[in-house]
Amino acid sequence: AVTAAVVVHCKMKKSGKWEKAMEIVKEFEEKCATPISKLRQVADAMLVEMHAGLASEGGSKLKMLISYVGNLPTGNEKGLFYALDLGGTNFRVLRLHLGGKGRGIVSKQFEEVSIPRSLMTGTSDALFDFIVAELAKFVAQEGMDFELRPGRQRELGFTFSFPVLQSSISSGTLVRWTKGFSIEETVGRDVVAELTKAMEKQGLNMRVSAFVNDPVGTLAGGRFTNNDVVAAVILGTGSNAAYVERAHAIPKWHGLPLKSGEMVINTEWGNFKSSHLPLTEYDHELDAETLHPGEQIYEKVTSGMYLGEIVRKVLRRMAEEAAFFGDTVPPKLKVPFILGTPIISAMHQDTSPDLKVVANRLKDILEISNTSLKMRKVIVELCNIVATRGARLSAAGILSILKKMGRDTMREGEKQRTVIAMDGGLYEHYTEYRNCLENTLNELVGKEVSETVVLELANDGSGIGAAILAACHSKYLETDE
Ligand code: GLC
Repeated sequence: AVTAAVVVHCKMKKSGKWEKAMEIVKEFEEKCATPISKLRQVADAMLVEMHAGLASEGGSKLKMLISYVGNLPTGNEKGLFYALDLGGTNFRVLRLHLGGKGRGIVSKQFEEVSIPRSLMTGTSDALFDFIVAELAKFVAQEGMDFELRPGRQRELGFTFSFPVLQSSISSGTLVRWTKGFSIEETVGRDVVAELTKAMEKQGLNMRVSAFVNDPVGTLAGGRFTNNDVVAAVILGTGSNAAYVERAHAIPKWHGLPLKSGEMVINTEWGNFKSSHLPLTEYDHELDAETLHPGEQIYEKVTSGMYLGEIVRKVLRRMAEEAAFFGDTVPPKLKVPFILGTPIISAMHQDTSPDLKVVANRLKDILEISNTSLKMRKVIVELCNIVATRGARLSAAGILSILKKMGRDTMREGEKQRTVIAMDGGLYEHYTEYRNCLENTLNELVGKEVSETVVLELANDGSGIGAAILAACHSKYLETDE
């Protein structure tokens, strides 16, 4: 009788803990809820901020930065150009041979280099010296097919995925770092000058002809092959969008009248913040621990750098308060950012009946073994909650861009196609996220409009677009008109 009583007690205790864990999940899920009505409020709030950001510099948390890209590529650009794409966890160097009218991209070579973490928070010189050294190595492999005519310099499109206040297509000062970067001395400096200084130091004879933010590059790259591309969205380490705005809708533009009547705007929507955003205690805690507390709130609930960390925080709470993994809290669960979003994505998309992928990731990354199938299902559900909230909020962001461009409703008798070029590892690799985003957007705009809106993956779009913009702004302009 005594043993039976002990067993019952243990069971109760166990089930009490399980219930507590489920309570934590349920509460989290409720706070993350994104019903369509909320998404519409988010989109409307973002739209208001867009107007404010366009009205005056610093008028909104949405910086709505002027890109100085007024003329987008035509597809007739010609010549050999380089690109340097710096922004997330890696940077890419790219060589692009553009064939001119009807020939598109003739050849493309690229290399990807991961940026040592220490350089992301070190000194400006160390970062740019490292980048230029890699770029120089890449240029040295150019081969015989490239002939630099006497007196000419190689030309580079520089994609720099941070907010920059541009003063021309090839210059601009860093407003601040975001994501995993923080190098105080670079803030306020001309980033192109920093890069050029490093190139001169290392004897690399190259000229930056276009300096762009990543969605701006992606938009340009998309337009090169498709005339219907009018916006671009990045969902990678960070999140951002750019779109084509009419010049007269940019009160803060005091430059010369634009020939095209248009200007690409870098929204920097990652910094959007609103009481309509469904934020939880885990988000607030995460925000406080980042390099840039209080900033990039929308980005912190939608983008790749943070999704896994949010899941980790909830799991940690479950371990601490509901002994979800047993009597002790698995030490690895206390390590910030140990659960990268690729891990979340793999677990979320585990289709094996016994959730083997989840079990393996838990074992390999968190050193947690012996999880029951029931526990693994809960973990998949957590990934689902976090990814769904992010994807649905991203769809709301896209709705606000469509609204700003007047493309969220059908115009009388017009079937105008709207293509949005998409780039970034999160969108590219996290299928559940991508599907959820697309379904939500369709729901938000309705069937008729959704048939005219296309999200198109532009792999490497930001770098390619920068090289093409370098061609558009080449000192030695060669195009087939
Ligand atoms: C961050 C940066 C932004 C960039 C985005 C995607 O939000 O501030 O400039 O475009 O990440 O890389």
